[in-house]
Amino acid sequence: MDIVPGITDLRARLRREQSVAFVPTMGNLHDGHLQLARTARGHGSCVVASIFVNRLQFAPHEDFDAYPRTFEADCEKLAACGVDVVFAPGEGEFYPEPQGFVVEPPELGNQLEGEFRPGFFRGVATVVMKLFNIVQPNVAVFGKKDYQQLMIVRGMARQLNLPIHIVGDQTARAADGLALSSRNGYLSQAERAEAPRLHQTLQWVKSQILTGMPDFPAIEAEARKKLEQNQWRTDYIAVRKQSDLQSPRLYDRELVVVAAARLGTTRLIDNLEFSR
Ligand code: PAJ
Repeated sequence: MDIVPGITDLRARLRREQSVAFVPTMGNLHDGHLQLARTARGHGSCVVASIFVNRLQFAPHEDFDAYPRTFEADCEKLAACGVDVVFAPGEGEFYPEPQGFVVEPPELGNQLEGEFRPGFFRGVATVVMKLFNIVQPNVAVFGKKDYQQLMIVRGMARQLNLPIHIVGDQTARAADGLALSSRNGYLSQAERAEAPRLHQTLQWVKSQILTGMPDFPAIEAEARKKLEQNQWRTDYIAVRKQSDLQSPRLYDRELVVVAAARLGTTRLIDNLEFSR
């Protein structure tokens, strides 16, 4: 496996490849990331993973400085999954000058995650566009764990005519249902024991809707209460359409419930797709 920090060297390394499948990450890799790498293996002759903690997608009060950086261990895991190339630029290589040109997502970027993390999806779309231009992959793999991010990246690729096929991969979970996340490492032992309630609450929302409960706002409010009775602070819990993450009408069948909530100082997100 080649570890390449420079953009010029990366381009030279990839020039001879038939097809490139790409997995962008911010490192501190867990089995969810590795699952994406294995999925990518089936989509290209060369698998590239990137490790770059993107300052642009963190607000000033967020955890950019504290974000866990475990580069050596990450590279060992990627090598064991059959990744061919790791692109790991330094900040100065990736952002040699202030990033004045940005990719501005549509209105969806201001909703749900975007409402609570203003500018987050602008930062994500901009870094992903730059990574796509640097790596020039044929296929890129993203996790459904970050459902709205996947939708925004798909929309960007479609509307800006990027010749890249975007693959969405399922959410990898711990045995108790908690979605794997680099931020799970921030949880205390007691919080870790409480954390699966987020996924359980999403399953409860799904079961209510499947039993025919028509009042989604009432279900969402009850779900919020279930979390808040257990010391969570809920940013949002919302039933949306899978197709565009907008509010469903009576006849919409393909739904997803998305949520973000904080336990102590740790903010967790999760979602669950279902059909009715
Ligand atoms: P990061 O949080 O490191 O996630 C990298 C990729 O792994 C994303 O596509 C994310 O959806 C996926 N992922 C994370 N947890 C997962 C899980 N439990 N199951 C399946 N996939 C999972 O998302 C980012 O980084 C950044 O925003 C990035 C796209 C790299 C841009 O900076």
